[in-house]
Amino acid sequence: MPKFDYVTTSPADQAADLLVLPFFEGPVAGPGMKELGKALGTDLVAVLRDNRLKGQLGDTLTVPTMGRVPAGTALLVGVGPQAEAEPDKIRRATGKIAARAARYRRVATAVPQATKGSWEEGVQAFVEGLLLGSYRFDRYKGDSSDEDGDRPRLDRVIVMGPARWEKRLAVQALERGEVFAEATMWARDMVNMPAQDATPEFLAGEARKMAKDVGLQFKVWTPAELKKGGFGGILGVGQGSENPPRLIELRYQGGSGPPVALTGKGVTFDSGGLSIKDAKDMEWMKADMAGAASVLAAIPSAENMPGSTAIRPGDVLRHRGGKTSEVLNTDAEGRLILADALSYLAEQKPRVIVDTATLTGSCMIALGEDIWGVLGNDEGLIQDVLAAGEEAGEPGWELPLWQKYGRHIESTIADVKNIGTRWGGAIHAALFLEKFVGDVPWAHMDIAGTAWAESPGDYWPKGATGSPARTFIRFVERQAAKKSSKPVRSKR
Ligand code: BES
Ligand code: ZN
Ligand code: MN
Repeated sequence: MPKFDYVTTSPADQAADLLVLPFFEGPVAGPGMKELGKALGTDLVAVLRDNRLKGQLGDTLTVPTMGRVPAGTALLVGVGPQAEAEPDKIRRATGKIAARAARYRRVATAVPQATKGSWEEGVQAFVEGLLLGSYRFDRYKGDSSDEDGDRPRLDRVIVMGPARWEKRLAVQALERGEVFAEATMWARDMVNMPAQDATPEFLAGEARKMAKDVGLQFKVWTPAELKKGGFGGILGVGQGSENPPRLIELRYQGGSGPPVALTGKGVTFDSGGLSIKDAKDMEWMKADMAGAASVLAAIPSAENMPGSTAIRPGDVLRHRGGKTSEVLNTDAEGRLILADALSYLAEQKPRVIVDTATLTGSCMIALGEDIWGVLGNDEGLIQDVLAAGEEAGEPGWELPLWQKYGRHIESTIADVKNIGTRWGGAIHAALFLEKFVGDVPWAHMDIAGTAWAESPGDYWPKGATGSPARTFIRFVERQAAKKSSKPVRSKR
């Protein structure tokens, strides 16, 4: 991780190997461009115009500085219309040039004043874009294929801001950007790791290390303990695999009052079980623990494999708390393990529960790859989760928890069955989960579409996106901010 500094030096005087300066649609000069142009003896806006660059997101122009300023090379980066320079634009524009910037040892940049959101949010978004955009998952590449072996590594980033920005707040924004990006990359690493190595036990080990680093209480439930505790869903889904399941529990004891409870689906590989998936559908099912990876709470983890010990279609599982479910499709396994985790969390009377899961292809069909779906029993909480996602640049959309579809998951022999009819699958899954949260305000995020990218985006390579880790940080911050006020139940 490079070291970040904040200065108020003019770009014309700042030493760096690469100077990154934004410009707006028009083209219109961004911060620092006039000063740099003056020092170089040229009008940089005219140069942009000569190069037919209008300032769209992702437009770039490299300008040699010919020894006239301390910086080696300048890179002008389009961020779109000045009136729409919200933090997410800054994150995306930065993400697009991040891999290039990472080839230099020392990078200096002027961050544009965010027009929507505060300037601090803009500075934070810059850091996120830079770190996330240069993320690569290369730990499974051979040493010999290390193309970048002898290139310098980015080790210092200098952000230049105007004197009116308070330094203390700027430094805080830089640090927040690092934390948000680090959390996202941690989740990406977990999700990108092949299921042969990222087993439930491994996930528990990584969570343990992280808990130790940041000072959280840690507990991992082994199969024997899960059995004693009545966690039939987690055990059932995991029983066909030679990698036994776990429940991972992290606790932060710093606060007062009822806790905020978060959980995520941690299926380390989803073969579908005996209701086995087609080969094509199985390709990226190592990512079926993206919910768990993005969350810090009680995390159920199992590997869904077919085999002589696996659960069969028609089997009935007894969940934590005593409710039973009829498993008619072993590929609808996420809700089975979440049921246990949700029951367990509801027992502790938290103020709210939020879960996240790569739960249904149906949600992905409904909303595509850019937005997750959210369903729940509390409108206020849903709005909070949506707002957190908006702030994080990871937007979601509410889907209805349509109670009438409850008829589709009625079982003849158990309390509930784990599949509905063909249409509205994301809703059936959420209705299933709702049965296990009691009367705790609860929201469920279906991230089947957003957790994994089939092709590279503005600040992520193909593979795990790390979403919605940043949303969770924002969400917890929002909850902490309103801790003193009593939660108001807004039953929908
Ligand atoms: N992990 C999958 C959901 C999924 C599918 C995520 C595609 C991302 C992309 C989940 O366990 C699953 O298999 N769901 C089934 C449920 C069905 C059997 C009711 C689905 O969505 O098809
Ligand atoms: Zn799954
Ligand atoms: Mn499945």
